[in-house]
Amino acid sequence: MPETPLHIPATWQHSAARILAKNWRRVLVVGAADRGKSIYCNFLLNALLRAGRTASFVDADIGQKDVGPPATVALADLDASAALAQARCNALYFVGHINPIAHFLPLVLGTRLMVEAARGEFVVIDTTGLVQGKGRVLKGFQIESLQPDVLVCLELGEELAPIRHAARHLNILRLRPSRLAAPKSSNARRRAREEAFQRHFRKARELEFGLQEVIVQRASLFNGQPVEDSRFPYAERLPDGLLAVADETVPSAERIQSVPRHCLDHLLCGVADKTGECLGLGIVSSIDFARRSLTLYTPVPRRHIRIVRLGDLYLDRQGRELHLARLGHF
Ligand SMILES: Nc1ncnc2c1ncn2[C@@H]1O[C@H](COP(=O)(O)OP(=O)(O)OP(=O)(O)O)[C@@H](O)[C@H]1O
Ligand SMILES: [Mg+2]
Repeated sequence: MPETPLHIPATWQHSAARILAKNWRRVLVVGAADRGKSIYCNFLLNALLRAGRTASFVDADIGQKDVGPPATVALADLDASAALAQARCNALYFVGHINPIAHFLPLVLGTRLMVEAARGEFVVIDTTGLVQGKGRVLKGFQIESLQPDVLVCLELGEELAPIRHAARHLNILRLRPSRLAAPKSSNARRRAREEAFQRHFRKARELEFGLQEVIVQRASLFNGQPVEDSRFPYAERLPDGLLAVADETVPSAERIQSVPRHCLDHLLCGVADKTGECLGLGIVSSIDFARRSLTLYTPVPRRHIRIVRLGDLYLDRQGRELHLARLGHF
């Protein structure tokens, strides 16, 4: 949260009073980038807590987060004394990227799971600023999945009109952004993400796991039957063909999907315990195909780690995004 003084428009105060009076417990906040969604969520949560009610915050803005690291949906159950900036994260869901495009499924699923896990009487949900084009579809899915008691639309003009129109069976509060709402540059956004990743990885160290020890999810690799094939350093049989780690291109005629040896290095992962609960993030340091081991850079204690969920974002240890694309869902 910025240190600048807050400006709370009278309409925002009225909205909080209305939400309390109507007992609208599930509040979904939408708006384009930089309309003040996060500031509004903070304001509303404080208003609810001040009224003596309990409240939870679900931060589903996977890029610019207030709670939890980027690329996750995070839940914070708040008590009266807790400002959002100091809020403890009670649960996390790993989405796998900081951009919602191409990640609707984990974003929608994760938001729903975090809302279901919330313990507060009220749940306030912050969302990404993607509201145009595919963003409209995403917001539609979020609304269907969450069935909020009220949709708070922070809107300067008519930019949310189609989203509101498709949700007009719901309670909608349409609010103007504060006159202090100001755009953040893409550099500032990237720096904020880097710093958030750095905070998360501050106490990280390398841990090596045998590939038998951990379950790798969101990938085919390491879920097939390992086979010896002298052409490749490592290969697995899958029902639909061979998945091979190859140093050279494989002729496309064969039923072989090949992946480069270092395809997982620097890949961001979600790390979960044996119940599937996400405990934090990891970055793949390396895979040793001969030893069949995976080395992970993570702040999560080794004894809890059972599941590694592969993401779609490559990061260095300073949290800088490496502009590499994950080559398909190997
Ligand atoms: N009510 C307000 N009082 C003071 N500053 C505000 C207010 N609303 C927004 N701002 C300023 O405008 C900027 C954007 O606000 P905020 O980060 O809350 O927007 P957002 O919609 O959450 O953005 P994003 O799309 O990045 O999630 C911030 O720098 C914030 O300080
Ligand atoms: Mg925000």
